Amino acid sequence: MSPIPNSYPAITIDVVLGPDGWNAGLRADALAGLTSSPKMLTPTWLYDDTGCRLYDEITRLPEYYPSRAEQSILLRWAPAIVSAAGADTLVELGSGTSAKTRTLLDAMAATGRLCRFIPFDIAHATLSESAEMIAAEYGIEVHGVVGDFRHHLGSVPTGGRRLFAFLGGTVGNFEPAERSALLDGIARSMAPDDALLLGTDLVKDHARMVRAYDDHAGVTAAFNKNVLYVLNHELGADFDLDDFDHVAVFDTRREWIEMRLRSRRRHTVTVPDLDLVLEFEAGEDLRTEVSSKFRIQRVAEELSAAGLHVADMWTDSDGDFALTLAMR
Ligand code: SAH
Ligand code: AVI
Repeated sequence: MSPIPNSYPAITIDVVLGPDGWNAGLRADALAGLTSSPKMLTPTWLYDDTGCRLYDEITRLPEYYPSRAEQSILLRWAPAIVSAAGADTLVELGSGTSAKTRTLLDAMAATGRLCRFIPFDIAHATLSESAEMIAAEYGIEVHGVVGDFRHHLGSVPTGGRRLFAFLGGTVGNFEPAERSALLDGIARSMAPDDALLLGTDLVKDHARMVRAYDDHAGVTAAFNKNVLYVLNHELGADFDLDDFDHVAVFDTRREWIEMRLRSRRRHTVTVPDLDLVLEFEAGEDLRTEVSSKFRIQRVAEELSAAGLHVADMWTDSDGDFALTLAMR
């Protein structure tokens, strides 16, 4: 038997949050959110396998500008970002399919310093698939972590000079207090030489923002309603997806898009695993996501509150999206 060549790059996946932990996290968040008034859910639970696939489809929709805007910044500025960060290791929080990340990896590879990629996501299957693809494409060590970045940043592998990338505007899916805790956690995980590259969507024409979350083809509606399937599947709930309409509104005071599910009629839903019986009025909304839209000043202020200073900031030519490089 001929020996298997030892040239295939190493892939390690640390599962900090396995299926039981995932279910426990969902239970805790769903119990708190569904018993609050108004009812709400944490956006993290939108991303089961179907949710990840639907989000991937969203990024290619004509109305959904954020992914294209962020990618255009990366295509133009990745070499400058990488040179300023001086990193040999890329840590990506909420990595998903790591589609845009390849532009950063290409720029790091061009410096000859790219050693390691550390994708971190709660979605195990999506993370494993992209980890394998990147290890094969770039021939580098990939050390993935399956975990909740609200709780498990202490499990990010150390060593090397790291660039933490938190792309897509995912930081905006958390309300200010939770976002502040998240940025504090990231800052605490960073060594003195590490850097953070933060993607944030910017405030713009309201109708355009709403269209990005209420697309013509109904993909965002399917993504939103899928969270009800997650509750049915994981917690034994009996949500009927046809009892709800997808709604996207811009809250002008808080400057965020809210994705909601609006009950079409007065009805009752049971969630046996939480011992809950939920009454929905006709027209009542269940909030499933906030997506904050930033002003540049606010990005700098929130980073500064976490003890990070802005080294540089880039926007796309239309000023739709910002990438900020921050250091400790
Ligand atoms: N960064 C990619 C994907 C964004 S989608 C992009 O820019 O397109 C948001 C990603 O964050 C999903 O892959 C989802 O699984 C992950 N995510 C959401 N909440 C999370 C949490 N609390 N901990 C870890 N990952 C989370
Ligand atoms: C991942 N996150 C930044 C997306 C957003 O735009 O808030 C999730 C999303 N929700 C609806 N469409 C896309």
